[in-house]
Amino acid sequence: MNVLGIDIGGSALKGAPVNIKTGKLLAERHRIATPEALAPKEMAAAIKELAAHFKWKGPIGIGFPGVVQSGVIRTSANLHKDFIDLDAEAFFSKATGMRVSLVNDADAAGAAEARFGQGKGRKGTVLLLTFGTGVGSALFVDGVLYPNSELGHLKFHGKSAEKTVAGSVKDRKKLSYKKWAHEVSDYLNQLETILCPELIIVGGGISADHDKWFKHLKIRTPIVPAAFLNEAGIVGAALSAAK
Ligand code: BGC
Repeated sequence: MNVLGIDIGGSALKGAPVNIKTGKLLAERHRIATPEALAPKEMAAAIKELAAHFKWKGPIGIGFPGVVQSGVIRTSANLHKDFIDLDAEAFFSKATGMRVSLVNDADAAGAAEARFGQGKGRKGTVLLLTFGTGVGSALFVDGVLYPNSELGHLKFHGKSAEKTVAGSVKDRKKLSYKKWAHEVSDYLNQLETILCPELIIVGGGISADHDKWFKHLKIRTPIVPAAFLNEAGIVGAALSAAK
């Protein structure tokens, strides 16, 4: 089955049709920049634009950067607050006239890695983290997802960890990889204490630069970039449509 996978992020929507049997993108991904936080209606229009770009008529899977329970968005730390408590699956299905399924964006990236990438066939505790506009997490035990783990909001220096360790913070404060990785290291040490993961997978845009910062981390857990790098979110979002 082919599904249009869409990754809604803090600064853009990215999507592509995906073969969910193989995890392969069927066309080059398309990106729509969202310099301002879009309200639900405007977001629906952007989703329609993305679907129109691919002349898409079929199921759509979306990853959203917030807690998603049974298609209802519960938190929206970095996007429009009108998403909170919106039944977004129903809302976007009605707006597009297509069947839409919705999951947390990091859980989507994790699902892609668990199925086809670095987490494939892995037993034990595997943690995927994304360091983008915010910090996303997907926690797996023996390949089974614990949904909406939200470890980016763990308290760190007295506030949500993502306020210190997100990739967007590194960019905004123009931190070197070494300086930023020092904070990330402390944060990962906390996660090691609480969860004792056996593998950490890093997704999101910054995973492509892993050779510049993994070497500065002082952690015990093996850490690897996502096999899909920044496309894990699109592939995993598409997978959600099979549920
Ligand atoms: C949100 C998470 C999301 C992460 C990455 C956080 O602010 O609370 O749900 O996965 O950002 O986008």
